[in-house]
This record gives sequence, structure tokens and C-alpha cells, in this order.
Amino acid sequence: MKMRLLVVALCLLFLFLHLYSVSALNSDGLALLSFMSHWTFVPPRINSTWIPSHSTPCSWEGVQCDTATRRVVSLNLSYYHIPGQLRPEIANCTQLKDLDLSYNYFTGQIPHSFNNLHKLTLLDLSINLLTGSIPTSIGNMTQLRYLYLQNNTLSGTIPSTIGNCTQLQELFLNFNQFQGVIPHTLNTNLLRFDVAGNKLTGTIPFGSSSGCQNLLFLDISFNFFSGGIPSAIGNCTSLSQFAAVRCNLVGTIPSSIGLLTKLSILHLPENHLSGKIPPEIELQLGGNLFGGRIPRSVGALQNLIYGLNLSSNGLMGDIPVEIGKLKTLQMLDLSQNNLTGSIQVLDELPSLVQINISYNSFQVVRHPMVWFAPKAAAI
Ligand SMILES: *[C@@H]1O[C@H](CO)[C@@H](O)[C@H](O)[C@H]1NC(C)=O
Ligand SMILES: *[C@@H]1O[C@H](CO)[C@@H](O)[C@H](O)[C@H]1NC(C)=O
Ligand SMILES: *[C@@H]1O[C@H](CO)[C@@H](O)[C@H](O)[C@H]1NC(C)=O
Ligand SMILES: *[C@@H]1O[C@H](CO)[C@@H](O)[C@H](O)[C@H]1NC(C)=O
Ligand SMILES: *[C@@H]1O[C@H](CO)[C@@H](O)[C@H](O)[C@H]1NC(C)=O
Ligand SMILES: *[C@@H]1O[C@H](CO)[C@@H](O)[C@H](O)[C@H]1NC(C)=O
Ligand SMILES: *[C@@H]1O[C@H](CO)[C@@H](O)[C@H](O)[C@H]1NC(C)=O
Ligand SMILES: *[C@@H]1O[C@H](CO)[C@@H](O)[C@H](O)[C@H]1NC(C)=O
Ligand SMILES: *[C@@H]1O[C@H](CO)[C@@H](O)[C@H](O)[C@H]1NC(C)=O
Ligand SMILES: *[C@@H]1O[C@H](CO)[C@@H](O)[C@H](O)[C@H]1NC(C)=O
Repeated sequence: MKMRLLVVALCLLFLFLHLYSVSALNSDGLALLSFMSHWTFVPPRINSTWIPSHSTPCSWEGVQCDTATRRVVSLNLSYYHIPGQLRPEIANCTQLKDLDLSYNYFTGQIPHSFNNLHKLTLLDLSINLLTGSIPTSIGNMTQLRYLYLQNNTLSGTIPSTIGNCTQLQELFLNFNQFQGVIPHTLNTNLLRFDVAGNKLTGTIPFGSSSGCQNLLFLDISFNFFSGGIPSAIGNCTSLSQFAAVRCNLVGTIPSSIGLLTKLSILHLPENHLSGKIPPEIELQLGGNLFGGRIPRSVGALQNLIYGLNLSSNGLMGDIPVEIGKLKTLQMLDLSQNNLTGSIQVLDELPSLVQINISYNSFQVVRHPMVWFAPKAAAI
């Protein structure tokens, strides 16, 4: 009798273990399968490895787990071109640190449930078809360092709660439909900020209300700002690349730009900037309304590697000999001004591969590297 009971008990135990081993996919795995069930195409490498009978998703394509807890810490489905919906269940993987879903065709909104992802340091949803706005709950992702949302169709305002993401270093919101102002709450640890190609308005906050001591890269091009370039931009002393192409800038370029000694690219074409070019600067200023001469201090811009574009600025007079100090300069566009004198100094620029001096009034001393535009033979 006792023997029979023991056998029955053992059988039940084996049955239980067997059931357990086939059905015990953990909650992270269930969340991933649920996410996958909303894709209209499942790439073969994912279909063949995301196996429901596993107990964890740790060996699945694109998934990495913590070795001790077997919880998912990284999901990278970048470049799979997956058509599907971005679903709130991913937020059930509450231990996620990196979530990279870039280069897919995900539709829908950024789920509010993402505020559960307290450990997330990287969120890359760039190059997808997402709509809607950034949830204000983004401020709950206090570990977030890298947020890439570029090239979607996101709209609404940039929530000021993003200032609660105090670890944020890179914020890429370019090529969306964001409107309203750049929040003044952006954290001061930010290294790279890109909002090019949106519908933003208001003033440029950097340097005054929004700290920027660490900012290396700033691109605010193709927006509708008012108020011009603030002189406080001179506080952003780490700035190496600053682009503000066609974004409705008016007024003069503040001389505080000269404080930005690390600047290697300044790109300001297609605005309504006027007045003299401050002696401290130049670079990509083509198509503005400057006049006068090329400042001799242009020779101080020795960090300038790529280009100097002074095209269409109504400049007069000679090319200053100091330009010969820009030994690393590769591109020089002086076209469409009223410059006169000799172009001999250009022989001293050993790195120059691209130059345009057409539509000026130079006394031509033929320069071997000069490209001559059709009318340039008459310069
Ligand atoms: C996600 O978690 C919620 C709450 O814990 C639960 O109700 C839901 O069933 C889970 N969904 C999936 C797909 O795991
Ligand atoms: C996905 O894998 C299952 C087997 O796990 C297979 O039956 C099915 O045809 C696969 N689907 C695609 C789209 O490859
Ligand atoms: C995801 O994978 C792609 C290509 O496989 C890689 O370039 C990218 O750096 C990965 N993302 C993360 C966050 O590691
Ligand atoms: C942020 O998280 C806290 C708890 O950590 C929660 O009480 C609060 O509702 C969350 N806020 C948002 C906006 O999600
Ligand atoms: C952001 O921080 C402020 C306090 O600094 C707090 O009142 C607010 O609820 C936080 N918002 C979120 C979304 O975490
Ligand atoms: C992002 O959008 C811009 C503007 O439409 C486009 O020029 C760029 O090629 C896009 N980037 C990618 C990787 O698709
Ligand atoms: C930034 O610059 C402005 C003017 O250039 C100055 O008045 C202000 O004190 C500076 N702010 C900080 C935080 O350094
Ligand atoms: C210089 O700027 C003008 C005006 O924006 C632009 O048309 C031209 O293509 C630029 N030159 C080069 C070489 O990029
Ligand atoms: C050059 O100067 C002449 C008058 O001296 C002026 O009519 C013309 O508009 C100027 N050209 C440019 C490109 O500024
Ligand atoms: C030089 O500049 C002129 C006027 O800006 C432009 O029409 C021409 O195409 C440029 N030449 C080359 C080779 O880019």
C-alpha cells in the first residue's frame, strides 16, 4: 500500500516537472512573444530562435540576459526591418538596460508603460514609423543616458519632464514633427543634442536657462526659432559643432561665439543674419547678409578642418594673407562676393581639395586647384 502511494507520488512529481519544463517560459519571454505576435512579418533568424518551449529567452536572437537572474537586460532588434506595432508589453521586461529597435517599421506610439523601465540607459527607436508624442512619464527613466528618436513622425511638444533624466548625454529628436519650444530644463550633462528638421519655435535656450558646459554637438537646423543666436551661447565652451541652418535666425552673430575655442564646425547658412562677421569667427555662413571685408582674425580659426563658406555675403576687398594659416582647411567657398586683389595666398593652403572663387572681381592669377564655374573665366 505504502509502495503504491510512493509510485503515484513519484509519477505526479515527474508529470509536474515535465509540465514545468515545457510551460515555464518566464515573464520576460512571454512579453517578447506577445510583442512578436503583433508583427506582420517575423524575420527567419528571430522565428527560428524565439522558441516558446524554452524556459528563458536568453538564447534568443537579439536578447541578452543577466547571467544570475536570467532576466532580459538587452533587446537589440536593430536593422531587422520588422513591420509591426510597438507594444506596451515590452515594458514587462522591467530589467531592460538597452532597448534598440532602430531601423524597423514599427508603428504606434511610445507606450506610457515604458515608465516602468527604471533601469533603461539606452532607448533607440530611431528610423521607424512611430507617431504620437513623447510620454511625459519619460522623466521616470532616471538612468537614461542615450535617447534616439530621430526619423519618425513624432509630434507634440518635447516634455519638460525630460529634465528629470539627469543622466542624459545624447538626445536625438531630429526629423520629426515636434513643435513648441526647446525645454529650458534640459540637463547640463548633455553632450549631444539634435532637433534638426522639426517645427520648433521660441528662443534658443542654450547657455542661459539651460546649462551647456559639456555640450559638444548642437544641431537645431530647419526649425522656426525667434530671437537670433543668444550671446549666452558663449557659455557652451565645449562646443565643437554647431549647426543652425535655415531656422529663421535674425540679428547679428554675437561676438561671444569667439569664446568657443573648440569650435570646428559652425554651420549657419540660409538665415537672415546681418551685420559684420564678428572678427572671431566664420565658417559656414553662406547666403546671409554680411558686408565688409574678410576679417584678418580668420587666421585664428586653426581648428577649422573642413570648410570655410563665405559665399554670397557681399564681401569686398582682398583675401587676407592670414587665411594662409588654415593649413588643414579642405573646402573654401568665396563665390558670389565682390572680392578683389590676388588669390596667390591660396597656394599656402596644402589641404585644400575644393575651392570656389567664382563671381568675384579678382585679378586672376591662375591657381591650379581652382574650379572655375562657367562665368568664372571672367573674374
Ligand atoms: C505584463 O504585466 C502585466 C502586469 O504584471 C500582466 O498583467 C500582463 O499579463 C503582462 N503581459 C505580458 C504579455 O506578459
Ligand atoms: C516560423 O517557425 C515555425 C516553426 O518554429 C514554422 O512552422 C513557420 O513556418 C516559421 N514561419 C516563418 C514565417 O518562417
Ligand atoms: C544593435 O545591433 C546593431 C547591429 O547589429 C549595432 O550596430 C548596435 O550598436 C547595437 N545596439 C546596441 C545598443 O548595442
Ligand atoms: C514615476 O514613478 C513613480 C514611482 O517610482 C510613480 O509614483 C509615478 O507615478 C511615476 N510617474 C509617471 C509620470 O509615470
Ligand atoms: C520630475 O521631477 C519633478 C521634481 O523635480 C517632479 O515634481 C516630477 O513629478 C517629476 N516628473 C516625472 C515625470 O518624473
Ligand atoms: C532621416 O531623415 C532625413 C530627412 O528626411 C533624411 O535625409 C535621412 O536620410 C534620414 N536618415 C535615415 C537613416 O533614414
Ligand atoms: C551665460 O552668458 C551670459 C552672457 O554671455 C552671462 O550673462 C551669464 O551669466 C552666463 N550664464 C552662465 C550660467 O554662465
Ligand atoms: C556655401 O553656402 C551656400 C549658401 O548656403 C551654398 O549654396 C553652397 O553650396 C555652399 N558651398 C559649399 C561648397 O558647400
Ligand atoms: C558688388 O558690388 C556692386 C557695386 O559695386 C553691387 O551692385 C553688387 O550687388 C555687388 N555684388 C554682390 C554679390 O554683393
Ligand atoms: C561656384 O559658386 C557658384 C556661385 O555660388 C555656383 O554657381 C557654382 O556652381 C559653383 N561651382 C562649383 C564647381 O561648385
